[in-house]
Amino acid sequence: MTGAAVLLLDAAGPEAAALARAAADRGHQVHAATVADGPAPAPELAGRVVTDFARPDRAVEEITAYARRRGVGAVLTANEYLTGLAARVCAELGLPGNDPHLAHAARDKAAMASVLTAAGVHVPYTRLVHDDTELHDALADPGVGFPCVIKPVSGAGSAGVTVVTSPAEAAAAADTARTARGRYGDAAAGILVQAYAAGDEYSVESVTQDAVTTHLAVTRKAVTGGARRVETGHSLPVRLPRATETAVHREVDAAIRAVGIRHGASHTEVVIAPDGRCTVIEIAARLGAGHIGVLLQHALGIDVFAALLDVALGRPAALVPTVHGHATVRFVTAPCAGRLTSLAGFPKPGPGVPFVRWRAAIGGLVTAAGVNADRLGAFVVTGPDAAEVERRADLLARQIRVRVVSAPLRTGRT
Ligand SMILES: Nc1ncnc2c1ncn2[C@@H]1O[C@H](COP(=O)(O)OP(=O)(O)OP(=O)(O)O)[C@@H](O)[C@H]1O
Ligand SMILES: [Mg+2]
Repeated sequence: MTGAAVLLLDAAGPEAAALARAAADRGHQVHAATVADGPAPAPELAGRVVTDFARPDRAVEEITAYARRRGVGAVLTANEYLTGLAARVCAELGLPGNDPHLAHAARDKAAMASVLTAAGVHVPYTRLVHDDTELHDALADPGVGFPCVIKPVSGAGSAGVTVVTSPAEAAAAADTARTARGRYGDAAAGILVQAYAAGDEYSVESVTQDAVTTHLAVTRKAVTGGARRVETGHSLPVRLPRATETAVHREVDAAIRAVGIRHGASHTEVVIAPDGRCTVIEIAARLGAGHIGVLLQHALGIDVFAALLDVALGRPAALVPTVHGHATVRFVTAPCAGRLTSLAGFPKPGPGVPFVRWRAAIGGLVTAAGVNADRLGAFVVTGPDAAEVERRADLLARQIRVRVVSAPLRTGRT
């Protein structure tokens, strides 16, 4: 082993596994901070500190003490809920990280709306409400209007987010937002009522090093319509008209600065209106989930996991594309809630299909997609030509047969 040890905050999930692999492949010992009953950590781990992410002050102490003992020289997380904790740990250890005083604004969407508005970033008009009277007032506010969006303050994965088209739907949407707890039990006060931004949805994948940002790609998001929005695919890189791209990058740069991102990845979700106006829906101080790292690798030849490792270690990161192709990920969802009885035609990895992942058990219960975590599987298609890649992905998607026999129970999978 060579080089400093690397510490991941939470080591579960495909992005954390890829970071662990990138570090291990480059000769770094990989450690993780995990909760006691968390999912199985990545196989590369040299050791771990068990802590309670729901008690951040104590977690910072325990993690920094462990990191000092193990000679940790880089701290990273792919877990959106832990980006604030990562900033605090990096600051304590004197390692490259984000501003610990601003990091909460990339998690708490009420704080996000205020700091982004103060920084001149165009965001949806947002009201924080704590009770039915405030909810009623917010719905009557002409700045909100209908449709509007009711969402938790610190959610992720679209959990608890509802697009509401009339006052009659608001109470149920507010209950849904209130019950969507943060993963580590954070009891954020209130919920958000937000103006609806109409247009096409994109995200901007960026890496910032020493406060200098490189935008790696703009990603087009495919999202279900209706009250509950679930991402069904991502494609990158998208070529926007030059003036639109400049405007989008300007908004995203300002958002990155406003939430204190200095060293690390960001994933900024934007809506572009038909007139080209860009609204920032949210910014997260982490790499985009949903296999966006895999898309960057295949479409652009950028090993974003190695790059993020370099950023965290304070080394120059390689962020220039070496390939000029296109990649798309498609997610498979269940047509209805019930028991998954069969799956046919799911793509196999091969030429132009570098990645497939199926995670639902045949015979198990599934739900119709209401949040991102309800997705059953994913496959990636890549190649030199965007239109051809999209055509091939559409064709493969049409060949998949998911059979679900109606059953009344929810799976409880989140
Ligand atoms: N103000 C808005 N205007 C239009 N659409 C919105 C708005 N807010 C949320 N949405 C839609 O709902 C989806 C989920 O909302 P949001 O991104 O705020 O939640 P999230 O839980 O952080 O989601 P994720 O972690 O999946 O990005 C968005 O991707 C978008 O489709
Ligand atoms: Mg989002």
